[in-house]
Amino acid sequence: MKGQEWYQADDVAEAYEDKRFSGGGRLIDDREKRAVLDAIGPIEDKEILEIACGTGRFTAMLAAEGANVVGLDISTPMLQQGRQKADELGVSGVELMRGDAGRLPFPDNHFDTVFAMRFFHLADTPRDFLREMRRVSREQVFFDTFNRFSTRSLYNWMLPMGSRLYSGTEVKRLLRDTNLDLAGAEHDWIFPYGFYRQIPGGIASAFRRLDTTIGSTVIGDRLASVSYWDARV
Ligand SMILES: C[S@@+](CC[C@H](N)C(=O)[O-])C[C@H]1O[C@@H](n2cnc3c(N)ncnc32)[C@H](O)[C@@H]1O
Repeated sequence: MKGQEWYQADDVAEAYEDKRFSGGGRLIDDREKRAVLDAIGPIEDKEILEIACGTGRFTAMLAAEGANVVGLDISTPMLQQGRQKADELGVSGVELMRGDAGRLPFPDNHFDTVFAMRFFHLADTPRDFLREMRRVSREQVFFDTFNRFSTRSLYNWMLPMGSRLYSGTEVKRLLRDTNLDLAGAEHDWIFPYGFYRQIPGGIASAFRRLDTTIGSTVIGDRLASVSYWDARV
């Protein structure tokens, strides 16, 4: 699993959010949070599992909205950041636990929704992870992917750990193989995330407007570097 070791370091965990979600990166954080909220719909009292929750960006948000959320991650330092965030926000209904996405410590059909963000690009065996997600969900499985035929391919070689990129056909095959039905998909970000996180917020907003304008044309979906996939059990 790419990144499994990378995220074990204290300094990586401490710098994780600042590095990705400050400046132009705020636009990414906002968009990802909207993708999660839109996919889950009414949140109050839902039982939700977030796989690879990292620093708890979504876990804390969902708990603040009234869900009962478990955030699972393999990295203790990332979870530590998540615990701090939950404490600072004073949210209840959140449990953060160390665990492996490949062997989820829950019985079948245990949660309403199971989701993972920024995880599948690290996965060597996405089918096995998706199968586990489906097993413990009684309703919904949600995740994102970085796309093969996009600017992400150009950007990929610059990343320290590389990323697994997916075509739409590959994701649909994975869903079929794991007995999940595709309920919806959104495709976004003509310019890759890494571009936005390196420029200041004001300039990033101008690029984002251009990005969403191109994204709303007929070729937009094909060029998008990220897809958000919403599936049903
Ligand atoms: C790019 S970070 C994403 C964190 C968070 N989902 C977010 O969007 O901010 C990837 C996360 O996957 C976690 N991870 C990697 N392999 C894992 C595994 N086998 N089981 C659980 N978590 C894992 C890492 O520790 C890290 O926190």
